Amino acid sequence: MTILVTGGAGYVGSHTVRAMLEAGYQVVVADNLSTGFRAAVPAACRFYEGDIRDAAFLARLFEQENIDGVIHFAAFSQVGESGKLPLRYYDNNVSGTRVLLEQMTAHDVGTIVFSSSAAVYGEPEQIPIEETAALDPTNCYGETKRVMERMMCWTAAATGLRYAALRYFNACGAHPDGSLGEAHFPETHLIPLVLQVANGQRSEISVFGSDYPTPDGTCIRDYVHVCDLAQAHILALEYLLRGGESTAFNLGSGQGFSVREVIEEARRVTGHAIPAVEKARRSGDPARLVASSEKAQSTLGWRPRYSALSTILQTAWNWHRSHPMGF
Ligand code: UFG
Repeated sequence: MTILVTGGAGYVGSHTVRAMLEAGYQVVVADNLSTGFRAAVPAACRFYEGDIRDAAFLARLFEQENIDGVIHFAAFSQVGESGKLPLRYYDNNVSGTRVLLEQMTAHDVGTIVFSSSAAVYGEPEQIPIEETAALDPTNCYGETKRVMERMMCWTAAATGLRYAALRYFNACGAHPDGSLGEAHFPETHLIPLVLQVANGQRSEISVFGSDYPTPDGTCIRDYVHVCDLAQAHILALEYLLRGGESTAFNLGSGQGFSVREVIEEARRVTGHAIPAVEKARRSGDPARLVASSEKAQSTLGWRPRYSALSTILQTAWNWHRSHPMGF
C-alpha cells in the first residue's frame, strides 16, 4: 500500500512518516521544504520536492506513483503570523488543499487523513471539548483549518471521497530515539522555548498572562506527544480504508497543564532553574483547552503511550540537547 504524505518533512509529518514505514507502508513524501527539512525524511521514502499549489507537480506525482491514500500535513501553522499575513495562509492552506483535492479526484484517490487543529474551536463553551462543539475559530490559522475541513466535506458529498480530520491539541515531544524533533524558525511554542532556556540558548521564559481564571492564573493546555499523533494518523487511515465514514477526531491527552506546571516539570527533567518572567497576556489565548479524545479511543482504538508530561519533556529535552539548532 502506497501513501502520499504532503508536508512529510515537517514536525508531525516526519514522525508520522517514520511510524508508517515501521508499520510496513510504502511512503511518498511531497514537501516544498519551506518549513520542513530534507534531513527529516528517511531514505526509504520517495521524496518529491515541490508545492501542492502546483497542479502540474501533483499531477506528475500521481501519474508516477500508484497512490492508495493521502495524509495531508502541508500547511503553514503559526497562529501569530496568520493574523499578520492572512492571505498567505488562505493561499497556502486553503488553495493548496483545493489543488490537492482536485488532483486526488482526477486520479481516483478517494481517501485522505487531514491534519486539522484544536484551533478550529476557538474559545470553548465546555471542557473537555468534544467534536460536536461549535467551530468558531479566533485566529486566521484556525479559520483556514476549518475551511479546509469544510472543503473536504463538500468534496466528499460530491465525489465519494472519504476523509478523517484530526484536530490536534498541543503537539509536542520528540521521537524517543532522539533522531527527530521539533524545529521551528522562529520558535513560538512553550515547550521548545522553555527547553532553550535550559539549554542556555535563552536567558528566561516569558509567562504570557498570570491573571487567567485558572488555579495558578496561567493558561491550561492539553499536551499530546507527536508519536501518539503519528499513531493516530495510521489508525485513521486504516479506519477509512476499511470503509469508515468521513468524520473528525480530537487528539489530546485529556489532561490539562498550566504554563507554570510545564515550566516546573521542565525544571525537574532538566535540572536547570529556568528563570520565568510574568508578562502580559498574549492576545487570542483561551484560558483553558482540554480535549475529549474518547471518540478517537473508541472508534480508532487510539491509546496515547507517550503523552505523560514527564515523557513529553524528557523526549523533547533529549532532542533539543543533541540538536540545539534543529536538523
Ligand atoms: N506561552 C507562554 N510563553 C511563551 C510561549 C507560550 O506563556 O513563550 C503560553 C501561551 O500563552 C499558551 C501556552 O503557553 O498559554 C501554550 O502556547 P503554545 O504557543 O505552545 O501553543 P498554543 O496553545 O498557543 O497553540 C497550540 C498549537 C496551535 C493551535 C492552538 C490551538 O500550537 O497550532 O494550540 O488553540 F492552533
